[in-house]
Amino acid sequence: MLPKELIRFKELGKPITILTAWDSISSAIVEEAGAEVILVGDSLAMFVHGHATTLPITLQQMLDHTQAVCRGFSNSLKKQPLVICDLPFLSYQCGEDKAVEAAGTLLKNSCASGVKLEGAEPETIKVIERLIRMGIPVMGHLGLTPQSVHNLGYRRQAEDELSQEQILKQSIQIQNAGCFAIVLEHVPDILAGKVQKQLRIPVIGIGAGTQCDGQIRVTADLLGLTNSQPPFCKPLIKTRELCVNALKDWVRQQHL
Ligand code: KIV
Repeated sequence: MLPKELIRFKELGKPITILTAWDSISSAIVEEAGAEVILVGDSLAMFVHGHATTLPITLQQMLDHTQAVCRGFSNSLKKQPLVICDLPFLSYQCGEDKAVEAAGTLLKNSCASGVKLEGAEPETIKVIERLIRMGIPVMGHLGLTPQSVHNLGYRRQAEDELSQEQILKQSIQIQNAGCFAIVLEHVPDILAGKVQKQLRIPVIGIGAGTQCDGQIRVTADLLGLTNSQPPFCKPLIKTRELCVNALKDWVRQQHL
């Protein structure tokens, strides 16, 4: 599937499901679960590498994880989920040439067929336009944008009318720049609903209510792999607890 074919999902009213993966085991599980898209999200900086934010992850690390994700698939190429990779912090903030080189490196050396980047500042819009002109599909990301944690924190965004208007305006700019979809993270449901109605491209929500064209989740949150999850992602199973208890039993048995 081509990234732009997700627009057809919206036209047909077919929900889009996107899950993150960071290695071959997680991508095999997500593929089998049937998600249409896998995001190699830079949240792996926190989940896999133990960093406090997404900022320290490098382009080389994102590439290594994307390659591992691609090796996990067992379906034929046509039936594999679409793979999108996050552009890490500082790989696109310093200008268009650097962004093309970073995104091109990911697409050249892995099975990823598009990139995601955060924000809609005038410089970012120029980067998006250039990437798309160079044949690199781009997914936008607004609302809570974790690469701006030192400005925004991890709070819900766009609580007031002015910032809601700004997100609506920026979403339209992202669409007009040529993005094939946009992620809206941790914003009021009513705003996500408005953006969904205004845009021709799919709006993919995380902590943005049910009126979006699709939903994206961090797989580690849904599976309860860590001690705590964000308020908008209740774990489906307590995997961490199950694993700890199973391993405790094994360790205990070795001491009998
Ligand atoms: O890095 C990430 O996991 C994300 C989320 C929106 C899913 O960008």
